[in-house]
Amino acid sequence: MNQEDDAPEDAYAADPDPLDDAEATRRDAGEAESSRASRSWWDRNADEYQSEHGAFLGDDRFVWGPEGLDEADAALLGPAASLKDKDVLEIGAGAAQCSRWLAAQGARPVALDLSHRQLQHALRIGDGIPLVEADAGRLPFRDGSFDLACSAYGAVPFVADPVGVMREVHRVLRPGGRWVFSVTHPMRWAFPDEPGPEGLTVSASYFDRTPYVEQDERGRAVYVEHHRTLGDRVRDVVAGGFRLLDLVEPEWPEWNSQEWGGWSPLRGNLIPGTAIFVCERV
Ligand SMILES: C[S@@+](CC[C@H](N)C(=O)[O-])C[C@H]1O[C@@H](n2cnc3c(N)ncnc32)[C@H](O)[C@@H]1O
Repeated sequence: MNQEDDAPEDAYAADPDPLDDAEATRRDAGEAESSRASRSWWDRNADEYQSEHGAFLGDDRFVWGPEGLDEADAALLGPAASLKDKDVLEIGAGAAQCSRWLAAQGARPVALDLSHRQLQHALRIGDGIPLVEADAGRLPFRDGSFDLACSAYGAVPFVADPVGVMREVHRVLRPGGRWVFSVTHPMRWAFPDEPGPEGLTVSASYFDRTPYVEQDERGRAVYVEHHRTLGDRVRDVVAGGFRLLDLVEPEWPEWNSQEWGGWSPLRGNLIPGTAIFVCERV
């Protein structure tokens, strides 16, 4: 992204989403359609996302998901002291909050995102993190450019070809580098995406991989999420050339009383909401 771009002047004024009446369905959605839908959805919804969740995310915290697990405590990328002077790629970085925390540890982060508007929020918050506007499926970096890669709910849940993303991350990482990413816990797919008791009854098959698609009146996808079972995700990681070191399922902590979409204390105390894959490049 051009660092000279203006940050949004009124970053917290969210326009009403003109596609609020999009129809939700389950149908196939390929790579190009998913990418196009993600880019336009996040461009349209970045203001609202940052306005709603910015305080929880913090400008320079590294939070892995709605449970509030903090990288400062979890050290999934390694002990904080080991991050100094490391080249780190953050994928689906949004407003680059995680990258800002990494920079504070002495790392050299690069924040990549598909959405121009999300990256404008990164500029608004500031601190000079290098920003790159690109798709996770085609990373614009030379082979072996980074020591570590990370993603907090960025890109992976939204792409039709997750193995393609794994291979790209593998290509740009140096041997032995860690790749840590969080996604919605696959188990959630079987439940309605509701924070209350209605979100506790199985309503769909966990094994149905048909993507969740919101589409406009002409049948064009405006939002896409792709489901993989836990086993699929493990196989994707291995097919991409990684060894799985850990699979973290953060428990809902007592201090967190905040709902985030379908994530809530009620559900969080009963079923996992986030899965974090800790991988090592072979
Ligand atoms: C749920 S947000 C997470 C943002 C940030 N990591 C956070 O925790 O706030 C998902 C982000 O992934 C980005 N994204 C979605 N698909 C992508 C893709 N194919 N390539 C790169 N970024 C993508 C979106 O633009 C959005 O900023």
